[in-house]
Amino acid sequence: MDPIFTFSDFSFGYLKHELLFHDLELKVNSNSVTLIQGDNGSGKTTLCNLMSGLLTRHKGQFLLENHNMDKLSKKDISEKVVLLKQNILGNIVAATPEEDLIIWQEKFRRKCSEDDNEKRMKAFQLYNMEEFLLKPVWELSHGQIKRITLAALLLNSKKFWILDEPFSGLDSKLISILENTIKDRKNKNFGTLIVSHRSEFHTDFIDEIYRIENQGILKV
Ligand SMILES: Nc1ncnc2c1ncn2[C@@H]1O[C@H](COP(=O)(O)OP(=O)(O)OP(=O)(O)O)[C@@H](O)[C@H]1O
Ligand SMILES: [Mg+2]
Repeated sequence: MDPIFTFSDFSFGYLKHELLFHDLELKVNSNSVTLIQGDNGSGKTTLCNLMSGLLTRHKGQFLLENHNMDKLSKKDISEKVVLLKQNILGNIVAATPEEDLIIWQEKFRRKCSEDDNEKRMKAFQLYNMEEFLLKPVWELSHGQIKRITLAALLLNSKKFWILDEPFSGLDSKLISILENTIKDRKNKNFGTLIVSHRSEFHTDFIDEIYRIENQGILKV
């Protein structure tokens, strides 16, 4: 299996003299499902932000495929990976769900192979969004907003997915839709990284589990 991310002798801290990660070693496979667990405040969101190029200035080796992350532009990175942010409103780019998905599609239009409208309709149907498609985002519930962001991910199906707390705020029906989507992607050789503080998981679809501990990452 090919790693999409390789960390070696990797360190990062927000403050100069206070490292959050120290001498971290990790390989994340590009075509499997990886789960990284950790307590609140252990650094899960920070790791997601580093992997999607939102944070820079690390020390040590940090590769995306075989390219040094610090040599890649945000555009280079966003062609390979997509991030679902933990702060759910941080994923929304428009006033209504319908506009939001259209903007996502236009941003990545060159990558779309199927008919745009049909693809968008399939995403709306999967997450049962028809009844609130034209409502303003500020009138939607947390779970409805999360559904917009999960539907937008489907428009980026060919990229590696980095999902920061993807199951939080979802009911059991939506959890199983998302799990099935992740399984289906894996069967097509597209990998996913799930980051979560939860320790109870249906692990049948997860290939590797790690835990953030003592500024490093250990295999569980
Ligand atoms: N922009 C920032 N500047 C300084 N410190 C930060 C910043 N963002 C996060 N931190 C600190 O880094 C540590 C890790 O935060 P992070 O958000 O990565 O944790 P987390 O594991 O995702 O937590 P949670 O389970 O609550 O989502 C925390 O101590 C946090 O206060
Ligand atoms: Mg977090």
